[in-house]
Amino acid sequence: MEYSKFYTPKEIAEVLINELTIPEPDKVIDICCGSCNLLFAAKKRWTNAELYGTDVSVQSATKDVKFDKIDGRKFAIEHAHEYSLVLANPPFDYVERKKQIPNLFVDEFKGIVTSRLEIEMLIANLRLLKPDGVLLVILPSSFVEAQTYKKVRKIIANHYCIESIIKLDENTFGNSKIHTYALIIRNVIRNEYNSKIGKSIGNNIIYNSIINSYKLKEGDWNNYDLNKNKITINLKRGNISSSYFSKQGQPILHTAKNSDNWLPSKRYISNELVPSVWAESGDIIVSRIGKSAGQWCIYDGEKMPISDCLYCIKSPNSIMLEKIKGKRYNLELKGVATRYITISDFCYWINSILD
Ligand SMILES: C[S@@+](CC[C@H](N)C(=O)[O-])C[C@H]1O[C@@H](n2cnc3c(N)ncnc32)[C@H](O)[C@@H]1O
Repeated sequence: MEYSKFYTPKEIAEVLINELTIPEPDKVIDICCGSCNLLFAAKKRWTNAELYGTDVSVQSATKDVKFDKIDGRKFAIEHAHEYSLVLANPPFDYVERKKQIPNLFVDEFKGIVTSRLEIEMLIANLRLLKPDGVLLVILPSSFVEAQTYKKVRKIIANHYCIESIIKLDENTFGNSKIHTYALIIRNVIRNEYNSKIGKSIGNNIIYNSIINSYKLKEGDWNNYDLNKNKITINLKRGNISSSYFSKQGQPILHTAKNSDNWLPSKRYISNELVPSVWAESGDIIVSRIGKSAGQWCIYDGEKMPISDCLYCIKSPNSIMLEKIKGKRYNLELKGVATRYITISDFCYWINSILD
């Protein structure tokens, strides 16, 4: 099977881009841009970002991307340290000749010898990063799991910060069943840090573990059991925005001001609207946006739809309820103007308490 041409599906590109906790990047690049799906997902989130792409195939050229038809590895050497966000789903293939581009293997990468193109592309991508820039890269699962890549993993964890390791659903690339991970790597050296470990299920990412920098720097990125999901969290987001609120009609639950005993407020929508998520007594409701983002309560009222400013955890089990009783969501909020949390932030918080 030809693994070098599997484009990232648009939906998963958007899900992964939304996982990045970075300020608006000025220059975003994908040196194997292909479909440009990763770049377009970035543009959807950050409309002012400038997009840059290279590929050996001219079919990737598009008017929205500053495109060069060039080997991405050569481009990276000429444009080292210029980009605040680098996106990559490189070709998974053998190289024509080892160390064909010797200038790639300098500084921290000096000792690496590889016959794999995706590893050369990984090095090229890291070289493109500005200080504190972030790389989102999709790699075969062997990169995270196999002994063969331990040395490369060690070097990277010692010179960069591995922020997230996400096992992608095996259906991500259609029915090819390619096993892959998405890694989020920041160009900063940290003595101690934790990586979030997660997996994608459909279009959601669930974080269920962490791994410390000691292990990462030893090249052990895989000492966890991703299938040992302690608790199944069935968390849903409402689909009705506040612009549809009216004076009367069907009651709907909406977010409310930040308070110690946070409860959702009650609003109304026209009877013609079709809400998708309903809260029932015993469900957990979470405010997802604004000053109250992360505030939650156990709902105790009549069955009612929720607005798109809320998440609802359906039928939480008693262990989860017992553990989170009296606890406040305490992860850092993202953004300055808009404060929000994602589904995976909340799941990650719950799992960290359950650990
Ligand atoms: C797996 S596809 C991914 C495309 C895109 N990044 C995405 O996520 O949809 C890999 C792309 O790398 C391109 N490619 C292969 N070798 C390359 C090289 N040496 N330099 C730049 N691009 C290359 C292929 O033409 C293909 O478009």
